[in-house]
Amino acid sequence: MEREQRIIYFDNAATSWPKPPEVLAAMENCLRHVGANPGRAGHRLSLEANRLVDETRRELAALFNIRNPERIVFGLNATEALNLAIKGLLRPGQHVVTSSMEHNSVTRPLHVLQERGVKVTKVPCDHTGAIRVEDVAAAIRPDTAAIIITHASNVTGTIMPVAEIGRLAREKGLCFIVDAAQTAGVLDIDVEYMHIDLLAFPGHKSLLGPPGTGGLYVAEGVELVPLKEGGTGSYSDVPGQPEELPERYESGTLNTVGLAGLGAGVKFIRREGMEKIRRHEQELTGQLLEGLEKIEGIRVYGPRSASSQAPLVSFAVKNRPAGEIGTILDQRYGIACRAGLHCAPDAHRTLGTFEQKLVRFSFSYFNRPEEVDYALRCLEEIVKKDIPAPQGSSGCGC
Ligand code: ALA
Repeated sequence: MEREQRIIYFDNAATSWPKPPEVLAAMENCLRHVGANPGRAGHRLSLEANRLVDETRRELAALFNIRNPERIVFGLNATEALNLAIKGLLRPGQHVVTSSMEHNSVTRPLHVLQERGVKVTKVPCDHTGAIRVEDVAAAIRPDTAAIIITHASNVTGTIMPVAEIGRLAREKGLCFIVDAAQTAGVLDIDVEYMHIDLLAFPGHKSLLGPPGTGGLYVAEGVELVPLKEGGTGSYSDVPGQPEELPERYESGTLNTVGLAGLGAGVKFIRREGMEKIRRHEQELTGQLLEGLEKIEGIRVYGPRSASSQAPLVSFAVKNRPAGEIGTILDQRYGIACRAGLHCAPDAHRTLGTFEQKLVRFSFSYFNRPEEVDYALRCLEEIVKKDIPAPQGSSGCGC
């Protein structure tokens, strides 16, 4: 089969691409015509930069049903937001409940905190990545301070019962932290209905903003120790960090250009309709699942149902290392995907794929059914003809 000219991008769970033209235009406008540091001066350009940042806060607040946009703190990505949430909240001697499907952005901060006396229970998920709310409830102890859960696994896409776990957390008086890395912008998130106290989200995945954007929603009454102190453009005469949000957790010059782009991404989603975007991505997921089922030698992991998973699918090809398949897809067929452990070793241990690892396709609104058809044909050829990895390649699994 001939390699197509155009690259097929199926790595949207890592970062979405392409972005809507509005995102590029908003970023260009910001750099060309605004340029100044938001909140650092009273001149018109600084005020305009501030207005752009505030607008993005308001767009996100509307999307997640956050009453006060000032409770959204901007940062680099979901990982930074999770570090602030986890390290800012938990103290030695406290216990936290999480799942066996978490990304390293949760497990690594917890690993560091364990060395400082925080106790962690990882509730085992089943072979599809699903968690049982009763198992979460059973893991709660008198010293439990928080529950941390991904909204959807970045390996299997499995959607977790966040609303039920949120209700449980509220009943037990626990802080509820949600990692929305794979869901913000594609699945409904309502911090009130789901009782979410800390919501970490990336700006650069399904929210369609550029890399270097993300944030944390901090519910009223939740106190975190800031990860960093410094200039906030406000209360400059006070020696310590201001109490007010978002400044308390937002020291240093913000990524105004990126946030202008993120605001345009969220506007695009709200204008287009998240329901429509989700439907399109679910259709692609369903199409891929159906096609993969028909290829003997391919094994799909996860719920294997488009409505029960985020728009991503992970699979193994015969008993071949996933990195090798990723390299063939890229170099021979022009398909960009992610093969490896996906920064989620616990999830792969849960699935039993830690050694072989998996190939993951993840979709965005801009992928097309023809691309999925083409990828299925490529995979069929790889399986049937036992296509070898290109000479000298080491496999792009990571
Ligand atoms: N967490 C991102 C992924 O799953 C980077 O690829």
